[in-house]
Amino acid sequence: MTKAFDQTQWTNAAFSKGYLESADHIIQERSELFRMFRSFYRKFIGTTTCASFCDLGCGDGILGKQLLEENASLHATLVDGSAKMLDAAKERLKQYPACQFIQASFTSLKSSFPEDARFDLIISGFAIHHLSLPEKAALFQTAHDLLKEGGWFLNMDTTSPDDPFFTDWYYENWQSWVDIRDRDFGLGGEFREISSQARSNPDNQLSPLGVQLELLRAAGFGRVDCHYKNGLFSIFGGQRGAAHHLSCSR
Ligand SMILES: C[S@@+](CC[C@H](N)C(=O)[O-])C[C@H]1O[C@@H](n2cnc3c(N)ncnc32)[C@H](O)[C@@H]1O
Repeated sequence: MTKAFDQTQWTNAAFSKGYLESADHIIQERSELFRMFRSFYRKFIGTTTCASFCDLGCGDGILGKQLLEENASLHATLVDGSAKMLDAAKERLKQYPACQFIQASFTSLKSSFPEDARFDLIISGFAIHHLSLPEKAALFQTAHDLLKEGGWFLNMDTTSPDDPFFTDWYYENWQSWVDIRDRDFGLGGEFREISSQARSNPDNQLSPLGVQLELLRAAGFGRVDCHYKNGLFSIFGGQRGAAHHLSCSR
């Protein structure tokens, strides 16, 4: 389903605020996701001459901040369709004055940058699953085009399993993680419906991970792989200009 950004729940200030306040409780293993993300940055990117990154669907800038904590001299461009989210990102990142903030929908992303804009790294956290599959394909192509040769794209997001046989189990396990955290933090059952609410919300358009990896390859990325996966939650991406390496050792 293709939907303009201004028809999504993210234009509702109360919904956006609710997400920001609850994200640590509802994103499965969020701290582990951040640890993996930073590890990838240190191992493959930070050691080279990475000078710039762009965060697509930055929300309050929490993902970009992970990188700025690794390297405060990075030139950060944070993009979101929501002015409220960008305000929250400006507040979170106020100690990094070189950050640039752009209000844009993913569907008009390319025209929001100068023709020659190129980044060393493009990241995204829990935003791209709001797009339909054709929109994801178009965004992956735009991300590829906006990267320098050798630049990386890294997406932290919810994805569906390649075989729907596992879908129910993935949602059950997510809810079980939320319920354990609820008990440990004494949250009073506030999120006991979160997995079923998310599953029935048409704004969430999860696509199979394997299909998305293929879309990345089709967009021209090499070194395409999934680096973290726990049920619905994953980190995956690729590198512009890298050759395709498929190993099939038996
Ligand atoms: C779940 S939040 C994630 C925020 C942040 N990246 C994080 O990891 O916490 C999704 C964000 O994507 C933005 N977003 C969703 N669809 C978008 C679109 N089509 N164009 C631009 N931004 C979009 C929303 O406004 C929201 O800030």
